[in-house]
Amino acid sequence: MTQDEIKARVAALGDWFHNIDLGGVQTAPHHFLHDYPADKFARFAHAVPNDLSGRTVLDIGCNAGFYAIEMARRGAARVVGIDSDQRYLAQARLAAEVTGFDIEFRNLSVYDLAQLGEQFDLVIFMGVLYHLRHPLLALDVIRDTVARDLLLFQTLQRGSDQVDDVAEDYDFFQTAPFDSPGYPRLHFVERYYAGDPTNWWVPNAAAAQAMLRSAGFCIIDHPEAEVYLCRRAPRPSRDGAAYGARPATVLP
Ligand SMILES: C[S@@+](CC[C@H](N)C(=O)[O-])C[C@H]1O[C@@H](n2cnc3c(N)ncnc32)[C@H](O)[C@@H]1O
Repeated sequence: MTQDEIKARVAALGDWFHNIDLGGVQTAPHHFLHDYPADKFARFAHAVPNDLSGRTVLDIGCNAGFYAIEMARRGAARVVGIDSDQRYLAQARLAAEVTGFDIEFRNLSVYDLAQLGEQFDLVIFMGVLYHLRHPLLALDVIRDTVARDLLLFQTLQRGSDQVDDVAEDYDFFQTAPFDSPGYPRLHFVERYYAGDPTNWWVPNAAAAQAMLRSAGFCIIDHPEAEVYLCRRAPRPSRDGAAYGARPATVLP
């Protein structure tokens, strides 16, 4: 493809959220976060295994495929990207074609991951949680259907970065812990945040970490304020409404 052909195909696919260099053509050169996500990735790239040969990767909410392509670049044996938006998937297919990586893209919602019928060594779940009306359900589904080992997770966070050491239990009349900035807190967006109608729940740092643990992920690295590298772990007890029962013991 000539640069003019790439330029035309990029333009035909509408506005891009990912700025990717496609043969010298920038897909989102005027992004409000500058060279995004490359600038962000530079802050935590060291935390992701550099050699992914022989490993499989699933990128959930892959958008135009920036992270899927980066994982293919690190030698992953198989990379699958899913997104609920066909428009972004068309961009991702073009980006993979121009960069020359063999990546499978599928139109799927995070809630329907069981349809893949497959587990992956590295699951990427970046920038999606706060777009969901049912964020814990999504984490539960990821843990129970597609996660075999590592989860690379990112969420928008607002509120305090303080993380309280929350007690196992509190007395009914002890209300002060809820007022601490470091208590796990999800901010509900009834209307808009940042002009985006798809923002629903924005956690503070304590809530992001607590939700990961609650869904059965152990945080093994925190290379950037919003980014967590996790390992699939036993799910703690009290796994809640989506699964009905609240077993007293730790599940396998
Ligand atoms: C803010 S973008 C993040 C893109 C990329 N993961 C990143 O970190 O740069 C959110 C992406 O999640 C996708 N998305 C939103 N809801 C989804 C859902 N229920 N299932 C799968 N993808 C979803 C959107 O279409 C969009 O591509």
